[in-house]
This record gives sequence, structure tokens and C-alpha cells, in this order.
Amino acid sequence: ETNRLVDRFGRTVDYLRISITDRCDFRCVYCMAEDMVFLPREHILSLEEIFTIAETFVGLGVKKIRITGGEPLVRKGVLELLKQISALSGLEELVITTNGSQLEHMAEDLYAAGVKRINISLDTLNPELFKTLTRTGDLVKVLAGIAKARQFGFKRIKINAVILKGRNHAEVVDLVRFAVKQDIDISFIEEMPLGMVNQHNRSEAYYSSELIKAELQRYFDLIPSLEKTGGPSNYFVLPGSTSKIGFISPHSANFCSTCNRVRLTAEGRLLLCLGNEHSVDLKAIMRTAPGDKALLRQTIIDAMVLKPEQHHFNIHEQPIILRHMNMTGG
Ligand code: GTP
Ligand code: 5AD
Ligand code: SF4
Repeated sequence: ETNRLVDRFGRTVDYLRISITDRCDFRCVYCMAEDMVFLPREHILSLEEIFTIAETFVGLGVKKIRITGGEPLVRKGVLELLKQISALSGLEELVITTNGSQLEHMAEDLYAAGVKRINISLDTLNPELFKTLTRTGDLVKVLAGIAKARQFGFKRIKINAVILKGRNHAEVVDLVRFAVKQDIDISFIEEMPLGMVNQHNRSEAYYSSELIKAELQRYFDLIPSLEKTGGPSNYFVLPGSTSKIGFISPHSANFCSTCNRVRLTAEGRLLLCLGNEHSVDLKAIMRTAPGDKALLRQTIIDAMVLKPEQHHFNIHEQPIILRHMNMTGG
């Protein structure tokens, strides 16, 4: 009998990421193909099933749950689910990653539902480039959402910016200035090759964290910070600002040795690593043995031996993982 999840490499898993829908109102070029087909409703976990899995994980020592998508805020009933999960005793942090499109009208309810931190994807402050990168997104709405979220008591708000050479790489200084001005954090992300995408060449667009850092250092004094959020970001602080500047560098600085997380996909697969297909079908367990919580719990414990040591992403080759990012929310 155990109440902690540990893998073959001695890593404790205490962070669960749950994609509650594969649907999204954006079509970001690095995430989706333009003609993306979404899963039929019955293939997706119900909110009750998601809650039961979340509860089981918290019983197994999970301290942080992040709700992702697709775009999690387009799923009907999301607030009710968040309320239930945030009330689980033993859970320290319920957090969410969103594209920000619905934040203007949902920020207050999210705060009331017990969400502690929000990460918002924002790759550019240029409205036209924003449209090009998201295909269907509206920058004005996202900025209004960020402004609204700042009015409530979230512990932190963070921007996620995937930096692409030749698209938004010249904006990194402006993005940091924006974050500092808004008193929020920002993480710069190296793109990962998941799923086939079109209208976007990942190899040509690769832009390393080192290049971003070098550019930022021309304008800011980046001081390494020991602060950790439990995610992969490596943080720096700036004198005279409360903003943290993070770098997520799957290619240039592999962080797998400190991995503490697993993912639940929208269709109910427990994925042991973003960059591998090792998984266990929790939906099948729940639908063939409904109500058997002991079985669910044991299945999750047993799944830990499937967690691989690391990903093998290569941005310059065809993706070995055909699953798109919207199945796992990153
Ligand atoms: P914090 O709790 O604020 O640290 O957030 P987070 O970085 O854990 O989550 P977020 O949803 O903001 O993800 C930011 C980026 O990190 C996304 O591009 C994710 O795909 C990436 N990321 C998160 N966890 C992993 C991981 O285990 N492996 C890899 N390769 N990327 C990850
Ligand atoms: N590589 C890296 N990050 C990605 N995201 C979406 N697709 C990719 C990708 N291929 C980011 C989103 C969001 C976060 C959860 O993952 O921009 O901020
Ligand atoms: Fe939607 Fe996020 Fe994918 Fe963009 S990156 S299409 S916002 S799920």
C-alpha cells in the first residue's frame, strides 16, 4: 500500500495535467493543422470521470493539478469541475493554462472556483501577427482578458510565449516589457514537434532560449532565481521588478531528470510523458468497471513503471509523436 507515485528513476509524481477538451477556438500554427478534426463527444471523458480520476490522484499524493485543453474554458461545466477539484483535501494548487479568449468574462468565476494561478498563451503583441499565428484568435480579447484577470486575487499570472525564428523572435524584449508593466511573469518556450502541422516549418523556426537570453541581456539585468513552480521553467528576476522571466528549453536544456508530472488526455489516456506514447487507458477502466475506485487507483500506481526517462524530440526531423498538442495541453 502506497500513497505516493514514484517511477523507475526515483522521480516522485505530484503534478497532474488534465486536458479537459481537445477543442479550441484558436488554431495556433505550431499546435494544430488548419483542418483539425475534433473527437466525438462520447470519446471524451465526462466531467464526473475527470473528477474521479483527479480525486484518485490527490489520494496518491498529487499536490498540483493543471487544467488544460485544447482551450479548457470552452468546455461546458468547467467552473463546476474546478470548484469540485479545488475542494479536494490534500491538493495545494489548482491552476489553469488558457489562451485567454474567454478570460474577460470568466476571470472572476475562475478565482471564485479556487484557481490559484493562470498561465495565458501570448506569443505576440502585434495584432496581425497574432492573427497569423493563432489563425482565428483576436489579440484585443486576450489583452482584455489579462487586464480583467489582474483585477482579482490570483497568486500569479504568467504569459507563455512560444518563440519562433522569423515570426516573433524580435519581440522578446517587448514581451518582457509588457510583463514587467503588468506585474506578471513570462515564460519563453522552445517549440516541440508534436503532430503534423502545415503552413509552419518547425526546423526553420527553431529559436533557442540562449538566443532569447542574449537578446534580453542587452536591455535587462537577468538574475538567476532559485524559485520553482513545479513546472519546467528556469527562472530569472529583474532588479526592481516582481516579474519572473522563465525559459522552457526542451531542446537546449533538457529538464526530464526532474520531471514530476503525468498527463490525462481529453480521451482519458494517462500519458506518462509528453514526448512518448506510453500510456494507460483510464477511460476503458472506468467504463468497464464503473465505480471500482480501488482498480482505478491500482491501475495508476502500476502505470508509473511505464514512465520513460526522457523525451527524444528532434525539431529538425518529422515528428515521431503524431498526437497534436491540443490532446494534452502541452
Ligand atoms: P507552471 O506551473 O507555471 O510552472 O506551469 P507549467 O510550465 O508547468 O505549465 P504550462 O501549461 O504553462 O506549460 C508551459 C510549457 O511547458 C508548455 O509548452 C508545455 O508543453 C511545457 N511543458 C510542461 N511540462 C512539460 C514536460 O513535462 N515536458 C515537456 N517537454 N514540456 C513540458
Ligand atoms: N511546442 C511548445 N509549446 C507549445 N504550446 C502549444 N503547442 C506547442 C508546441 N508545439 C504551448 C501553448 C501553451 C502551452 C500549454 O503550450 O502556447 O502556452
Ligand atoms: Fe488552442 Fe492552445 Fe493549441 Fe493555440 S496552442 S490552438 S490556443 S490549444
